Amino acid sequence: MIKRPRRLRKNENIRNMVRETKLHLEDLVYPVFVVEGENIKKEISSLPDNYHFSVDMLYEEINKLRKLGIKNILVFGIPNNKNSYGEEAYKKNGIVQRAVKEIKSNFNDIYVITDVCMCQYTDHGHCGILKDNGDIDNDITLKYLSKIALSHAQAGADMVAPSDMMDGRVKEIRKYLDLNNYTDVSIMSYSAKYASSFYGPFRDAADSAPSFGDRNTYQMDPANSNEALREIDNDLIEGADIVMVKPALSYLDVIRRVKDNFNVPIAAYSVSGEYSMLKNAIDQGLLDESVILEAILSIKRAGADIIITYFAKKLAEIINN
Ligand code: PBG
Repeated sequence: MIKRPRRLRKNENIRNMVRETKLHLEDLVYPVFVVEGENIKKEISSLPDNYHFSVDMLYEEINKLRKLGIKNILVFGIPNNKNSYGEEAYKKNGIVQRAVKEIKSNFNDIYVITDVCMCQYTDHGHCGILKDNGDIDNDITLKYLSKIALSHAQAGADMVAPSDMMDGRVKEIRKYLDLNNYTDVSIMSYSAKYASSFYGPFRDAADSAPSFGDRNTYQMDPANSNEALREIDNDLIEGADIVMVKPALSYLDVIRRVKDNFNVPIAAYSVSGEYSMLKNAIDQGLLDESVILEAILSIKRAGADIIITYFAKKLAEIINN
């Protein structure tokens, strides 16, 4: 006897109609890495099919994204000069600021989110200002993060995304943006950001690995999920518009818990290591390309509204076909 579940799987039309989770290109955010210099479009060896772009090469890339239907980007800057205060991060003419201006002046339908952090900009590679003993100075770092966020807003960013994991940064950034009349600029907080080894390829791509120690004092212990709920709660109280769980694939349970406990938009960052694992397995013929959709769909099914992924372009090809 054929039961109802089987009947509802019988042909493609009915499978499509009863499908519970559908991935749309509108859900996706594509990370864009910008470097100093001119005429640069260089493949990132740790993130195949992803590139470092100089500002003058962004026009072509963004145009491509738009044609594919990807209209949301997350901008990362890789400066030439680093110092202990990461001053390139908040300069009016810094790499991210120039990139955002270039994109916003050419495309009014692209939603530009900027990563707010210090690790690409400090010579020690940590996400904040250090005390003499090498510890992070949480409260001083907040002032710098606010300055970075404001400079991004002044360049035209629609949304800032603090990824540093300092305590109290959302409140400080919100206050500083509002004080300067950037009340419309939203904050997507990397609220539950784990101290993960899945960031490895990104740190190569962004030249942001810490020169000593690790990020365990400010990023979360992978063993904890109650703590993720507390972090999220805190960031919402401080004024976050969107909260993020990162990484995504090894933390689907955390995404689901956040979804069930809070009635707010959730972003999930499918990070560089997740991309590399699948990309390498596909390139070596170990896995079929269809795993991309399966993996990214699982993040949406877990409860994410917004998914940041290096597969965005590939997914656009898959979904558009
Ligand atoms: C900066 C930052 C990191 C990532 C996004 N923003 C690296 C880190 O915290 O070390 C990781 C993204 C990825 O792995 O794709 N703090």
